[in-house]
Amino acid sequence: MNSTHSPKEADNRSVILSVKHVTKYFGGLTALGDVSFELYEHEILGLIGPNGAGKTTLFHLIAGVYKPDKGNIHLRGEQISGLRPDVICKKGIARTFQITKPFLEMSTLENVMVGSYFGSHGRRSLKECQKPAENILLLAGLAGKDHVTASHLTLVERKRLELARVLSTKPSIVLLDEVVAGLNPTEILEMVELIKKIRAEGITILMIEHVMKAIMGVSDRVIALNYGRKIAEGTPEEIVSNQEVIEAYLGGKADVVSG
Ligand SMILES: Nc1ncnc2c1ncn2[C@@H]1O[C@H](COP(=O)(O)OP(=O)(O)OP(=O)(O)O)[C@@H](O)[C@H]1O
Ligand SMILES: [Mg+2]
Repeated sequence: MNSTHSPKEADNRSVILSVKHVTKYFGGLTALGDVSFELYEHEILGLIGPNGAGKTTLFHLIAGVYKPDKGNIHLRGEQISGLRPDVICKKGIARTFQITKPFLEMSTLENVMVGSYFGSHGRRSLKECQKPAENILLLAGLAGKDHVTASHLTLVERKRLELARVLSTKPSIVLLDEVVAGLNPTEILEMVELIKKIRAEGITILMIEHVMKAIMGVSDRVIALNYGRKIAEGTPEEIVSNQEVIEAYLGGKADVVSG
């Protein structure tokens, strides 16, 4: 690590999520080893690293799918590691899946209403969920697709639906796992704009991405993982010029250099 940079404009912000010394083993494999960082209210924090670096495992730990073998995770000072995923979701952390998982036989509107029904709002009737769900579809760029069955959506529409589903739980933090993967350059730009809109709604974002133009363009800070270890943390500019990150990961990613 050669950077201990404090985030842009972060000095007056409070820590919303704190990950301390988190370790996760799969048998003899250390998928994550002693990873610590803080996420600040309303920031966009990028998470990069080669395949198998432990990025998705970190999301699973934050979302409660796994319990860390060591270390702990706090949301606004309250320990959440060890709580069930549905409890963590109700506390305001929502995540997308690297492979999108909509309810395929349901319409886009119904998919979003489900999140709205089970999210962090407290009790609501299904009917009460409809209007908020329609508004979220509008925000996510899916207006007019309300009644399309999820299995009939294109890839980019499915990615938008994944974001809409996340927003429907009324989260304060969203964890985005490769939401621009597989999209064309125009679709990537549109998705980046949507991510900025989500932040403008007051939501804090932690995002994993391999598409460097997208993550470097949108993140306030970036963390790099390699073999389950944090190897760097800093501004996008600091990360792209960090020697260890270049050697571990960016060397083969010409788009970072060519801008
Ligand atoms: N349930 C599991 N059981 C055993 N090993 C696992 C499990 N989940 C992940 N791993 C291993 O843990 C390591 C980290 O995996 P993870 O999915 O977190 O990587 P990643 O950084 O998200 O990679 P990618 O960029 O390919 O999505 C990998 O070596 C992976 O094979
Ligand atoms: Mg992954």
